Amino acid sequence: MLWSASSPIAAVALFALAVLPSALAQTVTCGSGQLCPESAPCCSQYGECGIGAYCLGGCNPKYSFAVDSCAPQPICVNGNYTFPNLNSLEPNTKYLGDSSQTSFVYSGYTYQSNGDLLIAMPNQTTGTVIATSSYVWYGKVDVVMKSSRGQGVVTAFILFSDVQDEIDYEFVGSDLGTVQSNFYYQGILDWFNEQNISLSDTYANWHTYTVDWQEDYIQWIVDGQVGRTLYKNSTYNATSGEYDFPQTPSRVQLSIWPGGLASNAPGTIAWAGGLIDWDSPDIQQYGYDYALIQSVNVECYSPPSFATQSGGKSYRYVNRNGTQESVIITDDDTVLGSFDDSGLDMSSGILSSTSATSATSTQSIPNVSMVSSSGASTASATTTSVPTVPGGNGGADLQRGDSSSSSSSQSIPDASMVSESTTQSSTQASSTTSSSGAITTPSTGSGTGNRSTTSSLPSAASTSSGGSGFSQGGSASANAGAVVSPTSGALALLVALIFGFLIL
Ligand SMILES: *[C@@H]1O[C@H](CO)[C@@H](O)[C@H](O)[C@H]1NC(C)=O
Ligand SMILES: *[C@@H]1O[C@H](CO)[C@@H](O)[C@H](O)[C@H]1NC(C)=O
Ligand SMILES: *[C@@H]1O[C@H](CO)[C@@H](O)[C@H](O)[C@H]1NC(C)=O
Ligand SMILES: *[C@@H]1O[C@H](CO)[C@@H](O)[C@H](O)[C@H]1NC(C)=O
Ligand SMILES: *[C@@H]1O[C@H](CO)[C@@H](O)[C@H](O)[C@H]1NC(C)=O
Ligand SMILES: *[C@@H]1O[C@H](CO)[C@@H](O)[C@H](O)[C@H]1NC(C)=O
Ligand SMILES: *[C@@H]1O[C@H](CO)[C@@H](O)[C@H](O)[C@H]1NC(C)=O
Ligand SMILES: *[C@@H]1O[C@H](CO)[C@@H](O)[C@H](O)[C@H]1NC(C)=O
Repeated sequence: MLWSASSPIAAVALFALAVLPSALAQTVTCGSGQLCPESAPCCSQYGECGIGAYCLGGCNPKYSFAVDSCAPQPICVNGNYTFPNLNSLEPNTKYLGDSSQTSFVYSGYTYQSNGDLLIAMPNQTTGTVIATSSYVWYGKVDVVMKSSRGQGVVTAFILFSDVQDEIDYEFVGSDLGTVQSNFYYQGILDWFNEQNISLSDTYANWHTYTVDWQEDYIQWIVDGQVGRTLYKNSTYNATSGEYDFPQTPSRVQLSIWPGGLASNAPGTIAWAGGLIDWDSPDIQQYGYDYALIQSVNVECYSPPSFATQSGGKSYRYVNRNGTQESVIITDDDTVLGSFDDSGLDMSSGILSSTSATSATSTQSIPNVSMVSSSGASTASATTTSVPTVPGGNGGADLQRGDSSSSSSSQSIPDASMVSESTTQSSTQASSTTSSSGAITTPSTGSGTGNRSTTSSLPSAASTSSGGSGFSQGGSASANAGAVVSPTSGALALLVALIFGFLIL
C-alpha cells in the first residue's frame, strides 16, 4: 500500500535498489511458522530463502513459499561410483538440477588421491560436502571410506532428505575406534538416538559402511556385520500419531567439517572431542585435514507401494506434512533454466533475468563460508596451489576448490553459519545443527533413558532399536556445505524456546 500510488513495481524496484546492497543481501530466514516470500521462494536447508540453487537439493517444501517452489527431485538411480577422476562432481555454483550430467554436487574442496576421492578441510575453512545429485527413496548405500582424524574434526556419511529426515554415520576425530550411528525425523532433535559402533581405526583403515534403508527398518552395517537395527515400529510418536522414522527421498552426503570450531557451542565442541587444532599433523603435512572415499554404491529399492506414480523422473512433495505420504513420483523435469529460476517457474526466472538486480538481489547459491578464528574470510581462499595429496602424486592431481564464490557478482549467500560474523538468524536457524549434513547430538547427556549401547562389530551382530527416547523439540537442520554447530542440549533447548521452534 505504501507504494501503490504510482507504480508499485517501480517503487519496489527503487526500494530494492536502495536497500539491497546492504540489507537485502542479508538473509531472509524461514522455518516453522515462517514461509519464504514469493520473491525468494525457496527455503534452503540452512533456513534461508532464495532462488536458483536454493530450490534444488535441500530445499525444504515445508517452509518454502509454496510446496512446489522447490524443484522436483531427481529419482533414484542405481550406481556404483569410484573416482578415477573428478568428472562425476560438479560445484553447487554450476549445478542446475540435471542429475544425468553429474552424479555428485559439492561445495568445498575435493581432490583426487590415488584413485580415491579426497574431501578436504584446509586450515581455517568449514570443510567440504558432496551430495548425490539424485535421491534415494529407500535403498541400500555402501560407502568405502577412511575418516579424518584429530579432535574437533568430524567426518560424516549420511542420507539426508529435504524435510530433514536423516540417517547418519558420524566420525569424531578424537575417537577413531568408534563410528556413531544416528537418525532424525524431520530435523527434530532427539538426544537419545545416537549409538556407537566399535571398529578398528577409521582413519587408518578402509571400512565399508552400509545403510540398508527399508520401509520398516534401517540397518547400519559395517564391513558386512550389522551394527544396529532400527525398527520403524519402535519410533511411534503417540503425540503426533506418526512414526518418527526417516521416510522421505534423501540424498547421500559425505562431508568433513570443524565441529570443534572455537565459535561453536560448547556442547558441540565437547561432542567433537575438543577444539579443533589447525596445526594438526595433517594440516602441517598436507595443508588440510581430510577423509578419503574409495567408492559409493547406491541400490534403489522400490518406492512404497502406496505411492502415486505418474512418471519415472522425479519425486515431488504434494503437501507440507513431509511424510512419505506427501511424496509422489512424476515425470516432471528437475532442471532449472538458470540461477534466477525456482520450481515455480523453471525456465524463465522469477525475476526479470535481464535485470541486473535480479541476480544481485536474491540469493541464489547457498555457499560455504570460510572461517577463521578472526572471522570469516571467503572461499577465494580456495587452494589454487595444489597441496600435496596424501599418498597421491605430489599434488599434481586434479583438484577442485570452490572458487565459485569469490568473484561472482551475484550474491552468493551465506548459508553457513560457522563464523561469528554471521547473522543472528542464520545462527539460530542452525544452532542446533551440525554441519555438512550431519546433525549431531551433543553428548551432554541430560536425560534419562538408555542412551545407547555400544556394539562391538566383530563380535556383535546386532542391535537394538533407537527409537524410544524422544525429547524436546529443538531443531536440527543439517546442511550441506556449510558448517553449523550442533549445540549443547541446554542451549538447543533454549534456542528452541526463544525462537519458538523457528525451524520446526
Ligand atoms: C553395483 O555392483 C553390484 C555388485 O557389487 C552389482 O550387483 C550391481 O548390479 C552394480 N550396479 C550397477 C548399477 O552397476
Ligand atoms: C517391530 O517389527 C519387528 C519386525 O517386523 C518385529 O519383529 C517386532 O516384534 C515389532 N515390534 C513391535 C513392538 O511391534
Ligand atoms: C593455520 O592458520 C593459522 C591462522 O592463520 C596459523 O596460525 C597456523 O599456523 C596455520 N596452521 C598451519 C599448519 O599452517
Ligand atoms: C497432514 O497430516 C495431518 C496430521 O497428521 C493430517 O490430518 C492431514 O490429513 C495431512 N494432510 C495431507 C494432505 O495428507
Ligand atoms: C557467502 O555469502 C556471504 C554473504 O552472503 C558473503 O559475504 C561471502 O563472501 C560468501 N562466501 C563466499 C565464499 O563467497
Ligand atoms: C533400558 O535398559 C534397561 C536395562 O537394560 C531396560 O530394562 C529398559 O527396558 C530399557 N529402557 C528402554 C527404554 O529401552
Ligand atoms: C559414543 O562414543 C563417544 C566417544 O567417541 C562418547 O563420547 C559418547 O558418549 C558415546 N555415545 C554413547 C551413546 O554411548
Ligand atoms: C512427537 O511429535 C510431536 C509433534 O510433531 C513433536 O513435537 C515431539 O517432539 C515428538 N515427540 C518426541 C518424543 O519426539
